[in-house]
Amino acid sequence: YGDASQKIDYVFKVVLIGDSAVGKSQILSRFSRNEFSLDSKSTIGVEFQTRTLVIQHKSVKAQIWDTAGQERYRAVTSAYYRGAVGAMLVYDITKRQTFDHIPRWLEELRAHADKNIVIILIGNKSDLEDQRAVPTEDAKEFAQTEGLFFLETSALEATNVENAFLTVLTEIF
Ligand code: GTP
Ligand code: MG
Repeated sequence: YGDASQKIDYVFKVVLIGDSAVGKSQILSRFSRNEFSLDSKSTIGVEFQTRTLVIQHKSVKAQIWDTAGQERYRAVTSAYYRGAVGAMLVYDITKRQTFDHIPRWLEELRAHADKNIVIILIGNKSDLEDQRAVPTEDAKEFAQTEGLFFLETSALEATNVENAFLTVLTEIF
């Protein structure tokens, strides 16, 4: 989990976006501190966490930005996306609406972010298989059409969270 004394070769800014309560903050918490909380509060404004990892023998500091899914709590959009080289577009596999809103998030992202930004679509809460409302195939097909990476994750069970970040960071690299 990162050694503060090591020299940093690259700093990569990655942004998390998606509807409220899909698990953005818990995905970040799992990745940066290996922690998870069931009574997570809605994010207000912008927060970020960093974690330094080694990719292809270089130390990469991932600076992950997290904002509110709720419009009224969101900070200035252009500042949020400025300098971002990666984006994680998150929906909740148990809430169809959060997947149906993905095209809107993608539109906002494409309007404000660098055109070469690496994007991964993430279906979170894969631990709640019995409540699934979004078939994996639907998301896979959407991702393919839009040229996005795609993974299903569980911040709760720590499934694929590491993998999702590594997919983005390695591709930026
Ligand atoms: P906003 O900050 O309002 O945009 O929401 P958010 O996307 O940051 O959601 P947050 O991380 O706060 O999580 C919302 C709720 O979902 C919390 O109760 C979390 O504990 C829960 N949650 C997050 N990830 C998972 C997961 O992988 N599995 C399950 N079962 N619950 C999760
Ligand atoms: Mg949050």
